[in-house]
Amino acid sequence: MPCIPQHFEFIDARSMSAALADAIEQEAKSALLRRGVFTLCLAGGSSPRQAYEMLAGKDLPWRDIHLFFGDERLVFPCHGWSNFRMARKALIDRIEIPSANVRRMRGEMNSAAAAARDYERRLRAFFGPGASLPEFDVCLLGLGPDGHTASLFPGHAVLEETEAWVVGVEEPTLPPAVRRISLSLPALNASKKIFFATSDCGKQPLVETILTNRTAVTRRYPAARVQARDVVWFTTQQL
Ligand code: 6PG
Repeated sequence: MPCIPQHFEFIDARSMSAALADAIEQEAKSALLRRGVFTLCLAGGSSPRQAYEMLAGKDLPWRDIHLFFGDERLVFPCHGWSNFRMARKALIDRIEIPSANVRRMRGEMNSAAAAARDYERRLRAFFGPGASLPEFDVCLLGLGPDGHTASLFPGHAVLEETEAWVVGVEEPTLPPAVRRISLSLPALNASKKIFFATSDCGKQPLVETILTNRTAVTRRYPAARVQARDVVWFTTQQL
């Protein structure tokens, strides 16, 4: 049952990142205490980078933590557009995490649909045969200027996906940068907790619209269709 999202506004990107890293640490510690394992799904974009760097400095038992990705571009993992590359540089390379605990989307595959099937198969293997959807302890998301989140864009048919956990977002008329792989809305919405983060204070009016006028905008902005049981927004103030 979705709850009313919480919203925390910060004076700048640094304080937003510190609060986000602290909140992830807190969720990790509580999941580790309860179940001995913590699952974190990472976002791309620029907003979470500083929080990843701060998270890398936390004293966490990384061998019990599993990292996943919410979306990826169809590029090699060393490419400048790769979400994995950003997370590797900001977080993964700085922590003692077994490589088997890091599950990236294989953007090097030559079709987004095949890469989506591949990631779904690996998610299902992790969550087990009884899982009807993945249930990340925490899923991080960003907000695009058009209201997109992960790689779910306004007006795209994949927004209506009801079965697949992972979807390929193919747009043959656009350059390869926009061929993407993304968790589907049902998969995102199954997360125990969603942390949206945007360090761009210019998106504040969009955040307000999404938060205050949920019914009218629900179909227009994919981010507004993320209605998990616990959603928290971390944003920066417009001065
Ligand atoms: C990506 C994400 C995208 C991102 C938003 C916000 O770019 O990889 O798919 O959903 O989170 O576009 O990006 P910023 O954090 O850079 O504003």
